[in-house]
Amino acid sequence: MSIDTNVPELIRKLPKAELHLHIEGTLEPEMVFELAQRNQVQLPFASTCELREQYDFKDLQSFLDLYYQATAVLQTEQDFFDLTWAYLERCVADKVVHTEIFFDPQTHTARAVPFAVVVDGIRRALLQGERELGITSKLIMCFLRHLPADAALATWEEAQPHLDGIHGVGLDSSERDYPPRLFQDVFTRARSAGLKAVAHAGEEGPAAYIREAVDLLQVSRIDHGVRVTEDPALMDELRDRQIPLTVCPLSNTRLCVYARMSEHPLIRLLDHGLVVTVNSDDPAYFGGYVNDNYLAVAESLRPSRAQLMQLARNSIVASFMDSDQKKHWLREIDGLT
Ligand code: ADE
Ligand code: ZN
Repeated sequence: MSIDTNVPELIRKLPKAELHLHIEGTLEPEMVFELAQRNQVQLPFASTCELREQYDFKDLQSFLDLYYQATAVLQTEQDFFDLTWAYLERCVADKVVHTEIFFDPQTHTARAVPFAVVVDGIRRALLQGERELGITSKLIMCFLRHLPADAALATWEEAQPHLDGIHGVGLDSSERDYPPRLFQDVFTRARSAGLKAVAHAGEEGPAAYIREAVDLLQVSRIDHGVRVTEDPALMDELRDRQIPLTVCPLSNTRLCVYARMSEHPLIRLLDHGLVVTVNSDDPAYFGGYVNDNYLAVAESLRPSRAQLMQLARNSIVASFMDSDQKKHWLREIDGLT
């Protein structure tokens, strides 16, 4: 049975915050080829079709291998601006009114692209997005966990002249065998400097990594966190402390965390009282942006209208917006009942 025709309309109308979005993961195949031509980069794929054919991932690592390869086309400040601007235009279409964007500086500095080129391009688009599109935003710098903790510390030092434009730090890339505890030092420094902390945990890694991210990295939110279902006591604790999870349903099915969407625990977690939110992670690779994620959830898990509204409400509450801004959007959501 197909979903109620009012559901897609509700999803379109709901103001949302996106809290788990890798800007490098918005690099659509068409832009890969456009930038490759602009920057004279040789690609190992002959066409956008051939590139798309590779989007058949068996796990997180098989995706990351391709994702890092595609970033080779990002070279100039204008490239980072164009990438971010294209994403902000998608936000308008999905009524994403606020976005908190991850970027991976080490992926770029390792290719001799200066840190400033990356941050300045992204920031210029975000500032223009606020002025011209009314979309507010925060920028979160992620450390790559497959690289040594010393490399994260060096990146933290490199970020110092740019901290006025960076709101928080995160932890991403290959999760298995790279526990959060390895990055305790750099997270302590970042939090001491007044930055927020978030971390990917419990995507492919065990629930114990969520526990470490909470206890040792003292994160404000967990990115993914779906494997919390394997530790009922931790599930209760995240609910009691209202520590949000930024869940990415299409990502989880595309990377085979769940074989099918009907197995996804999103609504079960919501029913348990956790602050779960819906996000797109790497939308160019996983079959859609935020509203596509809401729609996929609606089709497979059949949430009620009230539950869909709660998911949007959670995204506002879990964001790093100030309280007046949160109140404004929560009132708008309540007006849709
Ligand atoms: N980097 C980009 N997407 C990611 C994901 N889903 N998990 C970990 N690192 C990532
Ligand atoms: Zn992610």
